[in-house]
Order: sequence, then structure tokens, then C-alpha cells
Amino acid sequence: MRTIAVINQKGGCGKTTVSINLASALADEGKRTLLIDMDPQGHCAVGLAVPDEQIEQGIYDVLLSSRRGEPVKLTEILWEISDNFELAPASIDLAAFEQQTNGMTDRENCLKDVLATVANDYDYVIIDCPPAVSLLTFNAIRASTDVIVPVETGYFSLHGLSRQLDTLSILCKQCSQHINVMVLASMYDIRTKMGREILAELRKNFAGRMFWTVVNFNTKLKEAASLGQPICEYDPASRGHKDFQSLAQELIASDTLVEQKQTATAAHKQEPVAMQSSIQARERKEIIEDLDNNLESISSSAQELLAGIKPSQAKAITSENMDDKLNDFYGVRQFGGAVRFLTLYPRAQNVQIAGDFNNWQPQKTMMQKGEDGKWELALELAPGKYRYRMVVDGQWQQDPYNENIEMNPFGEYNSVLEVK
Ligand SMILES: Nc1ncnc2c1ncn2[C@@H]1O[C@H](COP(=O)(O)OP(=O)(O)OP(=O)(O)O)[C@@H](O)[C@H]1O
Ligand SMILES: [Mg+2]
Repeated sequence: MRTIAVINQKGGCGKTTVSINLASALADEGKRTLLIDMDPQGHCAVGLAVPDEQIEQGIYDVLLSSRRGEPVKLTEILWEISDNFELAPASIDLAAFEQQTNGMTDRENCLKDVLATVANDYDYVIIDCPPAVSLLTFNAIRASTDVIVPVETGYFSLHGLSRQLDTLSILCKQCSQHINVMVLASMYDIRTKMGREILAELRKNFAGRMFWTVVNFNTKLKEAASLGQPICEYDPASRGHKDFQSLAQELIASDTLVEQKQTATAAHKQEPVAMQSSIQARERKEIIEDLDNNLESISSSAQELLAGIKPSQAKAITSENMDDKLNDFYGVRQFGGAVRFLTLYPRAQNVQIAGDFNNWQPQKTMMQKGEDGKWELALELAPGKYRYRMVVDGQWQQDPYNENIEMNPFGEYNSVLEVK
């Protein structure tokens, strides 16, 4: 069984879209596939038309039952989506997982233990992770053989990539299994010169650690999600479907390699116990070093990539430290009594802000469209702490350029702003 966690701390980079459609494409290829939603936002259920009010138990109940000795089994919470394709949905209480397991030993291995009970039932398990480094993400990593990091192919989307990969590296170092980390270019827009240049650079810098398949920007994928269907059902002739078919085939083609690594590990288990533990210790060290090198080079590639972009392409940004500059540039800043929100949504028709400063009424605070896909809004706010979300063409999401986030009672992430 191959277990693949889809991870990126950046919100809205396509994790759920990749998870749902990759799982569905693998099932179409005849692979027994389980999709697990480890994000309390519960978007996998939404994207597959599983009605929220009918989810009586979710992955949270199974994870906790594995520690409390309660009898909730994974099979009891599964929804059959299509042939070979099942979903373990998330319910809002997953947001309380970290708090509820406080003080429990081995709480980072809950998912791994649960998946061990179904190891012979599936060929692939895909895990959709939340846009945050949390115990939930760590559970996913501990249970996985592979990690896919979806990366948008826009210049500004590379912002923070190296920092994210560093964090991932730290998390992976704490695992004993071999983890294959691969970057996946997502939301690629072939029509833009910048998109094509960034993809070429990505391919050069991340060679061997990047999927050949690219997920193109395709509005059919957005439409499919809003109608609760995987792309193979909604529009099998679409570009989006072809991309996910090709991604599934690329993944399946790499099965043999992963199997070889697993067989090698299993062979050592036949050795006498004393020898076994010394082999395991050596193996663990090798695995960690291998992973570490792998991630370090991905991470420095990302830095080189950012530094290598010509200033003419990055327009207003000339500093060597692109990440910090971008942080200064986009996001939310206070100037005297006014707060300026500046963000980038090149394809959006309409961007609004809703927060506790306007009673969560987005229509009261429309952002103004500027050049090159920028959206801006200045508000006068009294000192205090505020929570807000952006509403992009009707879809609520966290501010992608504000790292200060907080989970709300719906299990979604609010962006947080402090006015001094
Ligand atoms: N390749 C694509 N083409 C067009 N739209 C896309 C594509 N991938 C994702 N989207 C759209 O972008 C938005 C964000 O995607 P998605 O929900 O998959 O991101 P995410 O990383 O899971 O977000 P979060 O961090 O909030 O969980 C959605 O509206 C989705 O339909
Ligand atoms: Mg998601």
C-alpha cells in the first residue's frame, strides 16, 4: 500500500483539488483507493458532494478511538464514492484533535496505527492535509510513504517555498520510514510567459524530484469541485482530467521503485534480533540523511530559483531577499490609523474582505482591482485584534500573504490582524 500525503502550508495552492482528482484517477486505473481528509475544513466531502449533515462520524472519531480503546473502525466511517474509491471524511471536531490528545503518548502515530489495520485493503491512500503545520499534518507524514508538495507556477507563489520545505524537512526527520518527497507544478497557465519561464526553471532546479506531469489551470476543475464531482465524472474530455490521468499513471509507474525499497527493508526483518536493531539503526540514519539531502537540495533550489529570476520579471522587487520583500509587499500593513490589504489574484473577477470589523459582511468591503492582478483596500480600524477572510469570486479563504492564522469554530482558518 502506498500512502501519499498532499502537503503545503500555503492555503489555496490546490491540495484538495489534487487529492480528490488524483484519488479518483487512481481508482479509474483500477487501483483500490482511499482518500482521507485530515483538514478540519472538510473540503473533500464538499468536493465530492457528501452532505455535511449526514457525516455522523469522521476520521477524528477513528483516530481517537485508536487511543481510547473505543470500537470505532475506519470501515464504519467510509463513504463509497465510485468503484475502487472511498472517502474517510473530516468533521468539524477534527479541529479539536490536538487539544483532545494533549498528554497522550504516541499521539503522532494515531493515523499510522489506523492505516495498519487496512494495509491489505487498498493500493493507494491519499491524505489531504490542512494549510498549517500541525499535529494533523505530522500524523499524515508519519503514516506516509510519499509526500506530494503542490506548487503554483506563478512567481509570487514560490514565495515561502524554501521555508516550507525546511519545515517539512524537520518533520520528516522525525520519521523512521523512507519518504519520497516530490514537487508537483499546479495551476500552470501556459499562456503566460512568466508561467512558462518558472516551469522551465522548476524543471531545471528540481530535476528528479518533480513530477513530469503538470496540473494546468483549468476552470473545469473549479466547476467540478463546486458541483461535488471529480473531474473524470464532470468532464472526461477536459484538460484537467487528462492531467490527473497522466499524474496517476506516472505515480503507478514509480510503484516498482517504492516496492523495491520496501522489500529491502522487509528483508532485514528476517535477520536475528540483535543484528536487526543495528541494521535498523543504520538504515534509519541513512534514510534520514537521504531525506535530509533531498529536502535540503529542493529547498536551496527554491532559493536559487527566486534569486535567479531577473529583476525585470519581478518588477518592483529588487532586493536579494525576495521572500522578505514579498512579505512586506503583499498582505496587510498598518500605516498610521489606516490598514492596507494588498493581495494578488490575477484571475479573479471580484475580491472582498469579511471580518469581525464589518460583521462578516463581505459586500461592505470590496477590494479595488489594480494592475497585474493586484487587489487593494485601505480601512480605518481602531486598535485591537481582528479576524478576517478573503472572499474570492464567492469563495471564502484565508489571506494567502498573512501567515498569522487562527482556526475558527467551523474548522476553517481566519487570518489575524493586530492594529496597534
Ligand atoms: N488546476 C486548477 N485549475 C483551476 N482552478 C483550480 C486548480 N486547482 C485548484 N483550483 C481552485 O483553486 C481554489 C483552491 O484550491 P484547493 O481548495 O484545492 O486548495 P487547497 O490548497 O486545498 O486550499 P486550503 O489550503 O484552503 O485547503 C479552489 O477554488 C479550486 O477549485
Ligand atoms: Mg484544501
